[in-house]
Amino acid sequence: MISAEKIPNNVELSSNKRLMRALEHWQPKYLQWWRDMGPQGFQDYHQVYVRTATSVDPEGWAHFEFVRLPEYRWGIFLAEPRPDRRIGFGDLFGRPVWQEVPGEFRNQLRRLIVTQGDTEPASVEQQRWLGQRCPSLYDLRNLFQVNVEEGRHLWAMVYLLHSYFGRDGRDEAEELLERQSGNRDKPRILAAFNQPIENWLDFFMFTMFTDRDGKSQLMSLSESSLDPLSRTTRFMLTEEAHHMFVGETGVARILERTCELMREAGFSEDVRRVGGIDIPTIQKHLNQWFSLSLDLHGGEVSSNAASYFANGLKGRAKEETFDDHLVKEAVYHLEFIEDGRPVTRDVLMRNAMNEVLRDWYVGDCSAGVERWNRILEQHEIPVRLRLPDRKFNRHIGMYAGLHFDPEGRPVAADEWERRKSEWLPTPGDSAYLLSLMAQPVYERGKFANYIAPPRRGINQQPIDFEYVRTEA
Ligand SMILES: [Fe+2]
Ligand SMILES: [Fe+2]
Repeated sequence: MISAEKIPNNVELSSNKRLMRALEHWQPKYLQWWRDMGPQGFQDYHQVYVRTATSVDPEGWAHFEFVRLPEYRWGIFLAEPRPDRRIGFGDLFGRPVWQEVPGEFRNQLRRLIVTQGDTEPASVEQQRWLGQRCPSLYDLRNLFQVNVEEGRHLWAMVYLLHSYFGRDGRDEAEELLERQSGNRDKPRILAAFNQPIENWLDFFMFTMFTDRDGKSQLMSLSESSLDPLSRTTRFMLTEEAHHMFVGETGVARILERTCELMREAGFSEDVRRVGGIDIPTIQKHLNQWFSLSLDLHGGEVSSNAASYFANGLKGRAKEETFDDHLVKEAVYHLEFIEDGRPVTRDVLMRNAMNEVLRDWYVGDCSAGVERWNRILEQHEIPVRLRLPDRKFNRHIGMYAGLHFDPEGRPVAADEWERRKSEWLPTPGDSAYLLSLMAQPVYERGKFANYIAPPRRGINQQPIDFEYVRTEA
């Protein structure tokens, strides 16, 4: 028996018999999945100082306490309803939003929810070994915070599947626990979520760039005409912000330390000799995770995206800031490659909705990279990090199968093979990073040599707080 008291929620779970029954079946499987595929080595004898959402008001959603990870209270929350909310875009613009799933959009909505839901447990699986290589207790705690919240995001999508999609929804909810990141036979749906995250530079780049794709997707789903989907994703965005904070500040702290080490080494480029992470390696990981995350936004020209928009299922990020919500005739200038040359052509904006969202995403990423570059500037180091061109290293969409350098210049296949080790992480880079992280740092207030301490602790605790306690 599960008890609604142990599942913080604002969906009147205890009086919702149908949902209770579905969860009774699903929750034990979830917990088994968490044990098998969640953080390895930190399930039973560690207490982690985590934030638990206990309600959606400002005090309730950031409640801090020490818990054992399997005892985390994964809850179900919808952001407050907006009175008289209307459909904000597409062919049904201006009509009341839906509280139930319209039959004609059922398959499309289920597909959107399952695709979003699949990413949540996938990232927990990708990150499950990182605890054993952590640079500090502070970082270890942040990793687990991200993990439990991705677990909760899975709950959020499963809540929708259980409540609005009947039998099919229950089957999909089970399958979300059956696919596995990187599994040959039953992989996760999207490519970036099948890539291994072996080291903490990967982790920070992932939370910077791939969680930010999560933000793009959640922003566009929060515009949805299906009101429960809109409200669920709106609340998820509050948690997502912390994940990107972890990524952005994680890389910033590595950069900070790299600059210090470079100075100590007399500005030699070779900070590896003194146990740091050199800027080219940081740039290569940036290239990797940014390009993988661009792929997550889908093909440039997409009839699915057009149909999601027309039907009011998935809008643009910040839809209210646009003037035209019907977008019937507007066009988008898109760069095609024909005979190896870029040619700009107009396509109907509705068919380019993935690209519109990608534009928003690229802008949000580039602001973050600018903040990183300020650190290099302060240390008077002349190199700068940069986002590669959006054609670089793409596997989805019209640039897939072609090769471009990070500046977006076409390169031939043999040149790509010859030079890709300048642009993307190599097995040697990975081996070096793993060697730096072979010894985890579990001592209070201590940090691995390659990363600077944070400016401040979590929830106003000191930096040397025991964020993860080991039980005797
Ligand atoms: Fe998430
Ligand atoms: Fe996230």
